[in-house]
Amino acid sequence: MTRVTADVTRVSRRSYWGRDEFDSEMERVFGRCWLFAAHESEIPSPGDYVTRKLGGEDVIVVRDETGDVRILLNSCTHRGNQLCRADMGNSSHFRCSYHGWTFSNKGTLRGVPERKQVFDADFDKSKYNLVGPPNVDVFHGLIFASWDPEAPSLLDELGDMAWYLEAVLDKAGDLQVVGPPARALVRTNWKLGAENFAGDGYHLGTTHKSPIDLGTYLNTEAFPQLDDVSMDAMRGRCIVAGNGHTLRVQHYGLETDEPVFLGYPEERWADIASGLDPRQADLMSRISVLHGNVFPNLSFIDAAALYSGDDTPAVSYVQLRQWQPVDEMHCELIMFALVPRWYDEEQRAHSQRANLRMVGLAGIFDTDDFQNWTSVADMSRGRVSQSTDFVYAGGVGIKPADDVGWPGAVYDVDHSEVNQREMFRRWSELLDDDSICTRTTGTADQC
Ligand code: FES
Ligand SMILES: [Fe+2]
Repeated sequence: MTRVTADVTRVSRRSYWGRDEFDSEMERVFGRCWLFAAHESEIPSPGDYVTRKLGGEDVIVVRDETGDVRILLNSCTHRGNQLCRADMGNSSHFRCSYHGWTFSNKGTLRGVPERKQVFDADFDKSKYNLVGPPNVDVFHGLIFASWDPEAPSLLDELGDMAWYLEAVLDKAGDLQVVGPPARALVRTNWKLGAENFAGDGYHLGTTHKSPIDLGTYLNTEAFPQLDDVSMDAMRGRCIVAGNGHTLRVQHYGLETDEPVFLGYPEERWADIASGLDPRQADLMSRISVLHGNVFPNLSFIDAAALYSGDDTPAVSYVQLRQWQPVDEMHCELIMFALVPRWYDEEQRAHSQRANLRMVGLAGIFDTDDFQNWTSVADMSRGRVSQSTDFVYAGGVGIKPADDVGWPGAVYDVDHSEVNQREMFRRWSELLDDDSICTRTTGTADQC
């Protein structure tokens, strides 16, 4: 079976919906890449923890008593019971509910009930500490980890994407997560959501025609600056940042000398610009929307809500979302709303509400998208349908622009499939790479 053609314009449906392909990608993609685990603001104090999936493994992401971030496998080293069953909390220790082994939040085995009666005198507790990924690192508040002991550094893995992520995460100073993340089991493969966020401007005019007609993009009442702008003046670009990372940005055709950060208080615009390098300010100014995907499964969107249907003022919103693979037909979607730390309570509430209304689980955009993504899954269950390919030929042959000045390959085109081709190029490259089989730890077991 050809998973992906050489020019990546066709991807076999088995790549999405085949059980064997799913097992391979869990080992070779999720067993190897740096994966998002949590945001630092979710665990600000010693003992704070959240429980998450990391490449199919259940983990506890915890700030230990000395303030370091640790990621621990959420499985007792005695006989495998789940150690922590809460989504989040604060604890100095985790006690197993089966036989009572107790671990510190550094992962050290501290307590073994009836130790002298049950185990030999030479029973060595230090052999049974909790394990975790060999690599953990933080990038502007985002906690990442990799199960691959030979993984490159996080910065090397992010490559040019680091510059873009930094622009999004530093645009309004330090961002923090508000509220617990929303979670939902979605009846589709994780790649369908990831490749959409990776840069599918093409679906907007059809899938999201209603919110566009409602004025989510152009609302001159909310933003008088947009008075002279028309939809035709919007300029979209697709950006390939390497290693499978991509994004798409769309700007309003505003003629301004100074950067314009729609959705943020105008008196803060100069401050926002001064916190970015001039090229990043150029990227983030005048955006109607910016979204992308950090390969493999961390997506993000940064936009301003121009229509809210009530008296909520126009406001910016930033969302991280992760497509956690469950099996080839299901993923768990986790959505995080982020706001600047300097927002007051009212601004925070407005931004969080905009986040929910626009791109929340029942948001105006996501209800449109879920319909399509689950439909694709439902229509791909049969033997005949699985023998056909998906097509990613949009914009094939286009060349990057050389006059934009941003990192990576910047394509002066809004509707293309160049970003999806980069995602599947990387995905296919990893699936074909047998070197994971020689790793001493990690998840490899089927080579
Ligand atoms: S399984 Fe955890 S103490 Fe036995
Ligand atoms: Fe969409």
